[in-house]
Amino acid sequence: MSERGYVDVVLGLQWGDEGKGKIADFLTPSYDVVARFQGGPNAGHSLEMNGVKHVLNTIPSGIFHKDCINLIGNGVVIDPVRLMEEIDRTAAAGADVKGALYISRKANLILPTHKLLDAASEQMKGDEKIGSTLRGIGPTYRDKYGRSGIRTGDMFRADFKEMVAAVTERHCEQLNQFGFDFSSLAALEQEFYEAVERLKTYRFVESEYFIHELLDSGKKILAEGAQGSMLDVDFGSYPYVTSSNTISGGVTVGLGLAPKHIRKVMGIFKAYCTRVGGGPFPTELHDEMGEKLRITGHEFGATTGRPRRCGWLDLVALKYAVMLSGVDELIMMKSDVLSGIDKVRVATAYKIDGKISDQVPYNYVGTDLDPIYEDRAGWSEDLCPVREADLLPENFTNYILWLEDQLKTPIKVISVGPDRVQTILR
Ligand code: GDP
Ligand code: IMO
Ligand code: MG
Repeated sequence: MSERGYVDVVLGLQWGDEGKGKIADFLTPSYDVVARFQGGPNAGHSLEMNGVKHVLNTIPSGIFHKDCINLIGNGVVIDPVRLMEEIDRTAAAGADVKGALYISRKANLILPTHKLLDAASEQMKGDEKIGSTLRGIGPTYRDKYGRSGIRTGDMFRADFKEMVAAVTERHCEQLNQFGFDFSSLAALEQEFYEAVERLKTYRFVESEYFIHELLDSGKKILAEGAQGSMLDVDFGSYPYVTSSNTISGGVTVGLGLAPKHIRKVMGIFKAYCTRVGGGPFPTELHDEMGEKLRITGHEFGATTGRPRRCGWLDLVALKYAVMLSGVDELIMMKSDVLSGIDKVRVATAYKIDGKISDQVPYNYVGTDLDPIYEDRAGWSEDLCPVREADLLPENFTNYILWLEDQLKTPIKVISVGPDRVQTILR
């Protein structure tokens, strides 16, 4: 009998867009399987190789590696229209999507009306809108937990259209109540059913059995998170969050694994912070420095193209995320963006109602909070061409050592550019 395989996890520790796609792709050669466990096409994961950039939304980031199995788990929500578009462009870029993609029969489907409800709900919220990606994520998870969702396996049932029609009717009543114009529905439904027919030709599996069979046969699995810990529905900056559990706990329910199957958790963070959409962001910069980070870091959404809000690294939130996911190893991204900044600021505590705290409050929203900063010596050298840890500038190395001490967790990988090769192992 072959030795049993294991599951490692790689996930984002901030407000998303930490660089999960780049790192999952970089790590894939050490694994046989890459599996997504939550989220959906709200994610935009960028991969860059040989000077070409690819953006993945629902397909796992192992897809560009030959012989890697890519599994979309039960915890993911799937929009057939967007997934087919993504499959087409990824296949056109040279990936063997037909041969390498496996999809859970239990993954919930994003219906056309889920997208309309997402837009209607945001419209209703006015100034308090979440800044949703409008991909239908929230309404789809709401139906899943309301026990009225429709799953990919249902696409193969003879009564699939009747099932969809029943849910759609209920959604239309809600849209009517909101006074939302849904005249686009017929066109959306047409593209939905066309995409469903094409998607059905891909491989659908009982993903929990599938993944356990892979483990039993010794396969190494990388679970790839979407979004980030501060967008987790339980622990993020609620209600300005997404609708799934983005922390390592989400791996178990999103793939049908037990906690004991997880060998190690790798947490990814940017050397600063970004956030796209609404909601609290304690270390946000509204000045020239924020603009500099946005321009130098090309901080514009991979999915929606929206400019990302930028700010200093927040160690209070980062320590919280490390704690929640039991992070064993850290991966630091976009250090190159901070080159040339004299003093690199880092929030090490919050002042909440006049008192110093090292904890994230239960409610960021409405809490009178000021970050307390520490300044660290910056570095002027360009990090982008560096490929070895020994060749990193001294101030930068000192900064890493200080962060490791603060976070009580080793920083094992440093990314100094978007390309696969711009990655340094420590
Ligand atoms: P994800 O959602 O976590 O996969 O991250 P995104 O792809 O949405 O955003 C990360 C952005 O930063 C992408 O445009 C990447 O190409 C880019 N990127 C990743 N790592 C680095 C890095 O170390 N330095 C720089 N300058 N860009 C990076
Ligand atoms: P990746 O995987 C950054 C944000 C949205 C919005 C909130 C809720 O690329 O890191 P939703 O559409 O999920 O209902 O939106 O969450 N958001 C993300 N921000 N990166 C993401 O994914 C995100 N997915 C959702 O901007 O504020
Ligand atoms: Mg992204």
